Amino acid sequence: MKILGIETSCDETGLAVYDSESGILANVVHSQVDIHKVYGGVVPELASRDHIRRITPLIHKTLEKAGIEKNELDGIAYTAGPGLVGALLVGAAVGRSLAYSLGIPSVGIHHMEAHLLAPMLEENAPSCPFLALLVSGGHTQIIQVEKPGEYVLLGESLDDAAGEAFDKTAKLLGLDYPGGPAISALAESGDPGRFTFPRPMTDRPGLDFSFSGLKTHAMKILKQSDLDEQTRADIARAFVDAAVDTLTIKCRRAMKQTGIFTLIAAGGVSANTQLRKSLLDMVVKIGGQVFYPRFEYCTDNGAMIAYAGYLHVRDGRREPLSFAAHPRWALAESE
Ligand code: KG4
Ligand code: ZN
Repeated sequence: MKILGIETSCDETGLAVYDSESGILANVVHSQVDIHKVYGGVVPELASRDHIRRITPLIHKTLEKAGIEKNELDGIAYTAGPGLVGALLVGAAVGRSLAYSLGIPSVGIHHMEAHLLAPMLEENAPSCPFLALLVSGGHTQIIQVEKPGEYVLLGESLDDAAGEAFDKTAKLLGLDYPGGPAISALAESGDPGRFTFPRPMTDRPGLDFSFSGLKTHAMKILKQSDLDEQTRADIARAFVDAAVDTLTIKCRRAMKQTGIFTLIAAGGVSANTQLRKSLLDMVVKIGGQVFYPRFEYCTDNGAMIAYAGYLHVRDGRREPLSFAAHPRWALAESE
């Protein structure tokens, strides 16, 4: 079965073809970073317009790279939410119409479910049940996964998402959007002992997070310090250490609480090398295992949508002709 995946929830136009026999045949991403950088964040209307401009040529390019014709497709999956409504509607409208014209099914995919399933695309894939740390620009959640489709929310951020905290703190340090990779790179040359940031909500029970205080803490230090290059790097280091430590502490707690010692991390922030190392060190100590998607499947991409779509189409999910985007959409409820 061959499924075309379409991702347009934010500022990447991602297209891919997943083949149930041989895996991902093609994965193409167009990033809009250059468009939004000058504004310091994503401008929704510009995002929608660029998706419209890019999507058709990118579909042709993806099919060509995959070495298939469009009538060889068995289904089309598109991100139905959560995300920017205008951006989502582009992928939904194109995906649904193309599927209709080809007479094949199309399915709307939850963006965070696709992130969560991305480690399954790797040769060394996790087996269920597992815990998923989802860390993106809009979400920070720990989810218990019994099997694909059965999700229980164990904890989530009460305010800023982890990626949002990285982006906002990076902005305070004068770094370009998107700040996550930039602040992590700056942190490499920072002194870990100079500043100490709090590890929010780790001193009380539970698996929820709160990241907005880290940005405020950075703001306070910035006001008191001379902003030479080394100080900026030291602040970046203290921030990254605190964010990574907090995520690691909560994952360890979730593993001990549930007795599930298989962990996956997914979403843009899971591309962070400090986080990947910290989670690995932690699971080794407690006799667990951790799985990550390869770097290009951590941030937004069509491959994860195509794969999630394959599971839905394979399991017989079909949708009526009408469609909707879901800018806000919960993947899992707490038990
Ligand atoms: O999953 P994603 O590509 O889009 C959303 O679904 O939101 O995640 C984007 C987020 C941004 O906040 C970005 O700064 C962050 O992931 N990010 C990183 C890294 N790469 C991307 N954060 C920390 N370190 C990275 N290497
Ligand atoms: Zn994402």
